[in-house]
Amino acid sequence: MQQMNDGMKYKIDEALKLLCTAPADRQALFDRADKIRKEHMGDEVYLRGIIEFSNVCSNKCAYCGIRAQNTKVNRYHMEADEILAVAKQMAGWQQGTIVLQSGEANSPEENKRIGEIVKRIKKETNLAVTLSVGNRSKDVYKYWHDCGADRYLLRFETSDPKLFAEMHPDCTLDERLACLDALRETGYQVGGGFMIGVPGETKEILAKNILLCREYDFDMIGIGPFIPHPDTPFGNKTNAYKDDTDMFFVAVAVLRIFNPDAHIPATTAFDAVFPGHEGRNLVLQRGANIFMPNNTPQKYRGDYLLYPDKPCVDEDTGQCAICIAGRISLLGRKIGEGAGHSKKRLGD
Ligand code: 5AD
Ligand code: FES
Repeated sequence: MQQMNDGMKYKIDEALKLLCTAPADRQALFDRADKIRKEHMGDEVYLRGIIEFSNVCSNKCAYCGIRAQNTKVNRYHMEADEILAVAKQMAGWQQGTIVLQSGEANSPEENKRIGEIVKRIKKETNLAVTLSVGNRSKDVYKYWHDCGADRYLLRFETSDPKLFAEMHPDCTLDERLACLDALRETGYQVGGGFMIGVPGETKEILAKNILLCREYDFDMIGIGPFIPHPDTPFGNKTNAYKDDTDMFFVAVAVLRIFNPDAHIPATTAFDAVFPGHEGRNLVLQRGANIFMPNNTPQKYRGDYLLYPDKPCVDEDTGQCAICIAGRISLLGRKIGEGAGHSKKRLGD
């Protein structure tokens, strides 16, 4: 990570001040973020349909429900044909991007399989392809990019090295950041992000998380509340903002203010904390401009629970697509057409 200069220190203080906005003044902060979103990103909400194609994972992340040690999880792997069948329906759902997400299963066979799936999607559809499958070497990232992958999502989770180490026995913060550097150098549109309220997080750390996103000039930034999963080492811990859950929205609003041109999704975890779709609807009005409908076939959804109370588990492929279209129009917004590439690098 770069040495913090005076300018950066000033920005962190500025972010911290906004994060400490008094509850009575928060609506004004949300309105400011919404206005910046409108000016910089417009009223279009781009849809990135996500397929959670495998929950096989070799990591032991202390917070994640599909960590390797969780023996209660029924492990699955979707076949290429099954993924392609969903991908081919996506244009009809106004989704210009497919996000392929899985646990971290780093083997030459799996890496090759992912590359082959990307090639087929690029050949058989017009979709932009985003991968979200964890840490790899630069060579593997380059191979997937050569296969046609356009974007990559890899959250750094927290900017605090000590906290990062408590959360991730399998890698260091520097290693994670080196992966993000490699992705950028390879030519991907890069998505980063973090969880909000990891136990031990202070508002100073939250401010640094936001500034790290700015420093990396991410094309997309996904953030969502940490939710304790009972079958993990963090299962008995509580979110740092448990008694002030509006802080989750404050974090998104400040993120937008500091990253006006980034794509910011209304992440699924918001709906777990504020059910009935209220969470994601509110985030879309407080800085976010992207929605990621769940396209995973119903039979697998219950086995991809990174955290409890995940929404849409009973819905099937296609149902979230219909639901979100209605919600976006109720919010007075419209679905973005095309891939919705990064404004920073490709125009659009
Ligand atoms: N609570 C909230 N978010 C979680 N993630 C994983 N586990 C949890 C949890 N318990 C998030 C991480 C990861 C993304 C795919 O899901 O930020 O990067
Ligand atoms: Fe999944 Fe509404 S987004 S049911």
